[in-house]
Amino acid sequence: MTPELHISPSPPALAEEAAQRFATLASAAIEARGRFVVALSGGSTPKVLLGLLAQPPYRDALAWDFVHIAWGDERCVPPDDAQSNYRMAREALLAHVPIPALNIHRMPAENPNHEIAAAEYAATLRALFGLAASALPRFDLIHLGLGTEGHTASLFPGSPALRERERLVAAPWVEKLNAHRITVTPPVLNAAREVHFLVAGAEKADIVRDILHAPHNPDELPAQSVAPIDGRLVWLLDTAAAAKLER
Ligand code: 6PG
Repeated sequence: MTPELHISPSPPALAEEAAQRFATLASAAIEARGRFVVALSGGSTPKVLLGLLAQPPYRDALAWDFVHIAWGDERCVPPDDAQSNYRMAREALLAHVPIPALNIHRMPAENPNHEIAAAEYAATLRALFGLAASALPRFDLIHLGLGTEGHTASLFPGSPALRERERLVAAPWVEKLNAHRITVTPPVLNAAREVHFLVAGAEKADIVRDILHAPHNPDELPAQSVAPIDGRLVWLLDTAAAAKLER
């Protein structure tokens, strides 16, 4: 599966490109299946995109009643904490669009028992997708970011969650952050219909080159574990993040 690359001239243009693709996929999914189920990423890069979706034309064009929002990962903090991916999305998007509260599927990451939080979210995903025991959720779209050391969602280098083949959601300890994280696992990422990496900035140029060109070693370069089995993988980059790619 060869990933598609789309390079935008600037971070605002990148956000616009991602918003257009979000809206197009949403309309197609709602047309075909009656709803659009998307998993958002955290970090700073998606904020502009979410802000665009909260404004015309997207705010008015999207049929929010049929849009379901989930997350690919979360920090183990309360939902009103400044570090919360849920809070970021609520402030940038969810508070500004007519999406039913029941369509927002937040990770219960504030639970001090991280394993229970992960199991609860796996149960949430099974209910949302009406899954049989061993089936995988098939998101219409998953947004992913990229850390400078190659992590994506909260799958960090050397993480046991990278080798997870059974569980939908894991609660790995992240040494680098001295904290746990809640994250969907590679089987969930690779069952999606479409995955968009959203990556901007010169500080990401080395890792983008390595993920796309270095030998396959997902344990050290976790973003390399993302290869949808029956879906599209699209890298949405700005010129600065794409600067070191072989052309
Ligand atoms: C998180 C993310 C994480 C993020 C990358 C990139 O919760 O932190 O989901 O995987 O996407 O760290 O973050 P930036 O967009 O801030 O560079």
